Amino acid sequence: MVKIDILTLFPEAFSALNTSILKRAQEKDIIQINLINIRDFSKNKHKKCDDTPFSGGAGMLMTVQPIYDAIMSVKQDNSVIIIPTPTGEVFNSKLSKSLSNYEHLIFVCGHYEGIDERVYEIFNPIQVSIGDYVLTGGEIPCMAIVDSLCRFIPGVLSKDSLNDESFSNDTLEYPQYTKPKNFMGYEVPEVLFSGNHAEIEKWKKMKSLEKTLKNRPDLIKKDTF
Ligand code: ADE
Repeated sequence: MVKIDILTLFPEAFSALNTSILKRAQEKDIIQINLINIRDFSKNKHKKCDDTPFSGGAGMLMTVQPIYDAIMSVKQDNSVIIIPTPTGEVFNSKLSKSLSNYEHLIFVCGHYEGIDERVYEIFNPIQVSIGDYVLTGGEIPCMAIVDSLCRFIPGVLSKDSLNDESFSNDTLEYPQYTKPKNFMGYEVPEVLFSGNHAEIEKWKKMKSLEKTLKNRPDLIKKDTF
């Protein structure tokens, strides 16, 4: 079982992780997701967890003490600590897959203007950005990263689901259709009913390449053609 501890000031934000596929994976004990409220670890008499930056400037920073104690309450020898931050390594399918191999993941979600740098100095966490834009906190990036990496954990998805999908082979997934065959004159491509598996595979490859060229030409390697 992969254990995922999420340290946050806003545990109520994470209900999305307890629905659908990830809910079932938790029920089957393939993964365990625990939400830990950083505020519970504050030694301040008002349970304060943020303060103004010494460098001046706008906004508040999360203080080191509550985060330090929250991490230490769950950290084991095999834990890896991940902090979502816009200054981290940009998340992609490869990083997602590599994170899915750990037995214990601890996510620390920053909020406001960020986290006191000493959290990074003490724990040397993996820093991950979900893209070149800034969100109000690490909660939504954390959910995106957890959702994505859990799909790589054996047993979470059915066996073949990962093979054809986007990014699994540097291309985007081909278009897919389901019933009905005709919707208001919009038809499903005839080749998909041909029963000719070689033709269907060829069609999938072409469509996949077409879509990648149009939407993500940067993914196509020079030696593809
Ligand atoms: N926190 C705020 N913005 C973020 C981003 N783009 N990626 C990860 N964490 C963040």
